[in-house]
Amino acid sequence: MSSTASVPLFQKFKLPNGVEYEQPLGLFINGEFVTGKEGKAFEVINPSTGNVVGKVHEATAADVDIAVDAAETAFYDGPWSKMSSADRGHLLLKLADLFEENLTILASIEAFDNGKAIQLAKGDIGACIGCLRYYGGWADKIHGKVIETNSESFNFTKQEPIGVCGQIIPWNFPLLMWAWKIGPAIACGNTVVLKTAEQTPLGGLFAAKLCKEAGFPPGVINILSGFGRTAGAAIASHMKIHKVAFTGSTLVGRQIMKAAAESNLKKVTLELGGKSPNIVFEDADIDRAVEWINFGIYYNAGQCCCAGSRVYVQESIYDKVIEAFKKRAQTNVVGNPFDEATFQGAQVSEAQYNRIMSYVELGKKEGATVEVGGERHGTEGYFIKPTVFSNVTEDMRIMKEEIFGPVCAIAKFKDVEDAIRKGNSTTYGLASAVHTGSLSTAMEVANRLRAGTVWVNSYNTLHWALPFGGYGESGIGRELGKEALRNYTQVKTVSINLS
Ligand code: NAI
Ligand code: MG
Repeated sequence: MSSTASVPLFQKFKLPNGVEYEQPLGLFINGEFVTGKEGKAFEVINPSTGNVVGKVHEATAADVDIAVDAAETAFYDGPWSKMSSADRGHLLLKLADLFEENLTILASIEAFDNGKAIQLAKGDIGACIGCLRYYGGWADKIHGKVIETNSESFNFTKQEPIGVCGQIIPWNFPLLMWAWKIGPAIACGNTVVLKTAEQTPLGGLFAAKLCKEAGFPPGVINILSGFGRTAGAAIASHMKIHKVAFTGSTLVGRQIMKAAAESNLKKVTLELGGKSPNIVFEDADIDRAVEWINFGIYYNAGQCCCAGSRVYVQESIYDKVIEAFKKRAQTNVVGNPFDEATFQGAQVSEAQYNRIMSYVELGKKEGATVEVGGERHGTEGYFIKPTVFSNVTEDMRIMKEEIFGPVCAIAKFKDVEDAIRKGNSTTYGLASAVHTGSLSTAMEVANRLRAGTVWVNSYNTLHWALPFGGYGESGIGRELGKEALRNYTQVKTVSINLS
């Protein structure tokens, strides 16, 4: 951290793949890029090299106050407050078009700032576009009901927006989480103050520029770069923010809920951690199952809240699956995110790298067997080889705790009962999968697993139309789909006395 004297509001960036563009570096408040009130800035690091690539302006509580005031004015008094729902939807559609026009730049920023493989980053931007269009389509289809009680009254409900919404997002899908949050909040007519993760501020700022270009009135969408303990905490406890949506660690999720309780009882939705089971029965198509195990854990370098990090294989095919999976894991191309062939890029930061490697060491100490990986990849940046631990027992911490990296724990199960018991042996409940050729096995397991998503013969196949969220300690509320609209509206009942 240092003074912003040397940090401009915009800077020409040239990325490793030759993409050149103008990167906004300021805070996006009331439709303009500005410096922070306290004049602070923080470093942006390229995780593929560990090098500092620049600085962005930093928001503190004082900037959150300014952004919230702008969002509140926009909500109650600005053109947004009078805009038709169809026009609101149209703005989201325009924003989606701008994402499409700028897909290469946006994907390149993600690969640069987060370290993810460019092929996955392009997929992320495609999903952002889908999500923004989906909610653009919802904007003029959100309405209440007429409820008949007796002949002396006429009653109806309205689905009203909540007001200023605070949104705090993580670094694993910087732009996709941005779109998941902005899409439904805006479709419902709210205004937002969104804080990006300190590890990955660049994409959200570029997207803020696109919001301005799309024509969102000032104050409707405010994007802040900053840290959790300062700017994030100020959002969670703000008296004028009436809803907070958070994606990140379970630890911080608890703090957000506490801050909401201790301030103004703002509505809270949380999308938190997981330790999701991926269950393979002996009647599954083994080659396909192995593909999904691989994709389930190594997609996004394992930095996925829904990662299939606990793999349970029926004992009769256990050895065969381990052999096939070992081979498959070793063929994943790890390395330079800008290489189109790369599947697994860098972990996001040194801290995450160290955290994951400490779990790898712990797994070894706990007595699990390293089948492949278990070490650093290359000599610079934060790359880790795809790692498979077998002989993992239920009491081991690598079987219980979220590692959030390319590390998979495999164990055996006997039958359906055993698979379900093991699958459910966690306080989390975000996602799960079952691989089987039997429809009745698939349905029984899907019905009895305690998780917000159950994939059958697939993994990580999220879609903006499908609700996503957690049972248990994996969260509160659902994102995506029509469900997400509930997070951003409140019901008003109007009852008219006709007598
Ligand atoms: P984190 O939960 O600290 O960070 C997520 C977001 O919360 C960031 O924007 C951060 O600035 C903000 N934040 C942090 N402390 C806050 C506070 N007191 N008040 C308000 N906002 C706050 O997660 P971190 O430290 O980056 O990663 C640690 C672990 O969390 C990971 O290893 C992983 O297990 C889990 N995680 C889960 C994610 C998910 O998608 N569910 C995403 C990121 C991390
Ligand atoms: Mg970064």
